[in-house]
Amino acid sequence: MIAPKEIEKSYKCDSQWPYGCLQKVKMNQTRIISITSGKGGVGKTNIVANLAYTIAQLGKRVLVLDADLGLANIDILLGLTPRYTLEHVIMGKKHLPEVIVSGPGGVDILPASSGVEELTNLNPNQREHIFSEFFLLNEDYDFLLIDTAAGISSNVICFNVAASEVINVIEPDPTSFTDAYALMKVLSVKYGVNHFKILLNSVNSEEEAKGIFEKIELVTNKFLNVTLEYLGFIFRDKKLKEAVRKQQLVVEIYPYARSSRCFFQLARVICKIPHESPHFNGFQRFIHGLFKREEL
Ligand SMILES: Nc1ncnc2c1ncn2[C@@H]1O[C@H](COP(=O)(O)OP(=O)(O)O)[C@@H](O)[C@H]1O
Ligand SMILES: [Mg+2]
Repeated sequence: MIAPKEIEKSYKCDSQWPYGCLQKVKMNQTRIISITSGKGGVGKTNIVANLAYTIAQLGKRVLVLDADLGLANIDILLGLTPRYTLEHVIMGKKHLPEVIVSGPGGVDILPASSGVEELTNLNPNQREHIFSEFFLLNEDYDFLLIDTAAGISSNVICFNVAASEVINVIEPDPTSFTDAYALMKVLSVKYGVNHFKILLNSVNSEEEAKGIFEKIELVTNKFLNVTLEYLGFIFRDKKLKEAVRKQQLVVEIYPYARSSRCFFQLARVICKIPHESPHFNGFQRFIHGLFKREEL
């Protein structure tokens, strides 16, 4: 492990940050995006995996953090069997690059398993250690996509607070709508997250997606202090289900399927969005945000 002191030598100190930190002289552009939802089973894991692939196709370097402890996680979706997880890094047995595995299309995956719970409950020594591990990754990636669990557990809240952009996935069913609202309410009222990108999944038309977005925007405008941004939609698609059964990505094996076209379009939209906070090291800000949860 490289001691934080050594890292500190090579970077300008910024008193705004904890742990003697460290604003890099060379600004990094890593975008930290959490993909989340109020309700489970709305397609987050599929969206993260396909989006990571399509963003990578645009020449960007993408790391996926599997932050869902549930069973249907991203390595199962991709047929990967990682040997090590974030837990090994937290225990000091491995470095981050040794844990990261390569997925389809040059996408990297950071398997977390129970390391996810631990990441949000570290003691000061572990924090400093993890901080320096993530700090060194910063140069390597343009995007970190976080596949969160659903709901309003402290874990989900934590990753959404730490991310610089939150994509809230909604599907056309009333419970998905009300749970998405509940999640935004908690994040905005209790944690000050007040900007959400809305992605509609499993829709049959663009009109349906826009109709749902308008409805939820009407309600949030009335009752919450948040701004919503319509990010786009993914068609409901049998080919996507077929790809899941084959443990492959729909965008890879059926690039012309109707959902695949949406993913390629979505990647272009996301890559065009200007980076909201280019002045900070993305991972630095992210890790700081995770630790900050206790102060919230
Ligand atoms: N656009 C879609 N069209 C058809 N089926 C979908 C679509 N998105 C997701 N699914 C199906 O929904 C199920 C749940 O998806 P998953 O990505 O595991 O959701 P989550 O991660 O939100 O729990 C998967 O089995 C997948 O086959
Ligand atoms: Mg999932």
